[in-house]
Amino acid sequence: MSPSIKIAPSILSADFGRLAEEIASVSQAGADLIHVDVMDGHFVPNLTLGPAIVKAAKAATSVPLDVHLMISNAELYLGDYIEAGADILTIHAEAVNHLHGAVQQIQKLGAKACVVLNPATGLAALDYVLDELSMVLIMTVNPGFGGQRFIDACLPKIEALRETIVRRGLSIDIQVDGGVSLETIAKASSAGANVFVSGSALFKSENYQATIAELRQLATAASAASVRN
Ligand code: DX5
Ligand code: ZN
Repeated sequence: MSPSIKIAPSILSADFGRLAEEIASVSQAGADLIHVDVMDGHFVPNLTLGPAIVKAAKAATSVPLDVHLMISNAELYLGDYIEAGADILTIHAEAVNHLHGAVQQIQKLGAKACVVLNPATGLAALDYVLDELSMVLIMTVNPGFGGQRFIDACLPKIEALRETIVRRGLSIDIQVDGGVSLETIAKASSAGANVFVSGSALFKSENYQATIAELRQLATAASAASVRN
């Protein structure tokens, strides 16, 4: 059975002055997850938000929070973000010293663990943690900013990961983040992704509900048509 398609609006592109309202709007419009981008100005050249805003986001919705940590020494802050309300906590393989230990700590603290790979990082980084994960995030831009162009060179990585997950009989979501839009979502879905982060494409649109529905429909159709099925 194909994994279910999920749309995860990235609030990085929301109007921060009306953040609670924006989160409530995309939640009512059909979001499956709310994607929260935490950046430290060190691991990535941009600075966004911390646990206090995650807590405020949690209070604005009943949709699960998917918190993407783009911070150095992420293992020092896992508890802060889970306490603030992260349901899924995503850590970069490139940003922790002991990936397996950090994944175990996330689980112990009661959240679902996701590991994310930058475009230049190979799947081998996941070899000894894959069984522990509920989701893997394949970045399709270099992290740091919304509104960048989808990197097609990441598609074979998504295909290879889906093949491994199916072969090993695992039940793990594959999320894609960066440059996902009405133009690019079908190719990511055909390659095997089933969770789609959408920042600028969604928040720039006039009608969140219509855009989420359209993204979902394009992803569902591409998945159904793909050779994997
Ligand atoms: C980029 C962030 C993304 C970003 C995506 O580093 O991780 O979540 O918000 O934005 P778009 O969809 O505009 O590429
Ligand atoms: Zn993100």
